[in-house]
Amino acid sequence: MKPQIAQLGYVALESSDIEKSIAFFQKIIGLELTEKVGEQYYFRAWGDFQHHTLSISPGPKGRVKHISFRTKRSEDVDLFAKQLRGKGYEIDIAEAGTTPGIGRAIRFSAASGHRIELYYDVLKTEVEEHRRSVLKNQTYKSWANGISPRRLDHINIHTSAPGNTAYDFFIEELGFRMNECIETTDGQLLAGWMSVTPLVHDVALVAHESLETTARFHHISYWLDSSGDLLRAADILKESGLEFIGPGKHSISQAIYLYVIDPGSGCRVELFTGGYLIFEPDWETIVWRPEERALGNTYWGDSITGNSLIIPTIEA
Ligand SMILES: [Fe+2]
Repeated sequence: MKPQIAQLGYVALESSDIEKSIAFFQKIIGLELTEKVGEQYYFRAWGDFQHHTLSISPGPKGRVKHISFRTKRSEDVDLFAKQLRGKGYEIDIAEAGTTPGIGRAIRFSAASGHRIELYYDVLKTEVEEHRRSVLKNQTYKSWANGISPRRLDHINIHTSAPGNTAYDFFIEELGFRMNECIETTDGQLLAGWMSVTPLVHDVALVAHESLETTARFHHISYWLDSSGDLLRAADILKESGLEFIGPGKHSISQAIYLYVIDPGSGCRVELFTGGYLIFEPDWETIVWRPEERALGNTYWGDSITGNSLIIPTIEA
């Protein structure tokens, strides 16, 4: 049986202004702090179950150190290592506890240039009583701080890797399904929305030929339960004095969005709700053509085409 990925795990972010980043993610976005080790902070949303879905540590500039996924089974970590080594990929081992809450993991560079980590074992950290939800199926009390999203949803990354190699890697090596894409009539992928879950995308990958570096990180996205919550998020951002783009609705994924940048790291955050799920085992990729890109990106609302939003945020 081929090894499989279960879900997006966490994003390891570095910030050149850790205090600003912590204030932004904790007080404005409203993530819960699970653990702090020295100057390394581990956050999750109130509905996330794993130890963290975002780690933030200090660095000389804003960047994403790695993007981490959880495998379906414990043995999949070593099976992925074997499979990728067989194809010539260099695999590093991160022993259990290298990242607090995360078990033994493997790390490698994807064809897109992004550093990827795979793990299975993870701590489902207990919450102190005063922060714990009354609900037995929820981690923290909801709405404790700021925007207060429920859970991590997806990431959007950009690459200048040639041809379709970056997309092929996610599909053939990591087992993702291409749910929607923007593709030229001669088969060149310009953007792809891929998942291992029923979500339309756990990962959006965009080909961007004029990047300063091969791999860039465009945004991390957290899920809100309703469009009403998203409008409340816009009010909170406005009152916080932060510029944002949205609300708007994507045609691709059909989700409603709001984008804001962490003033500490420069990392873009998307707040996200709505959309549709895919349960079809024989799903056929929805293909959008380059001339339909503007419609694909924005069905209605604040446009994300033709403005600074299309430029990737930070190095990855
Ligand atoms: Fe997104």
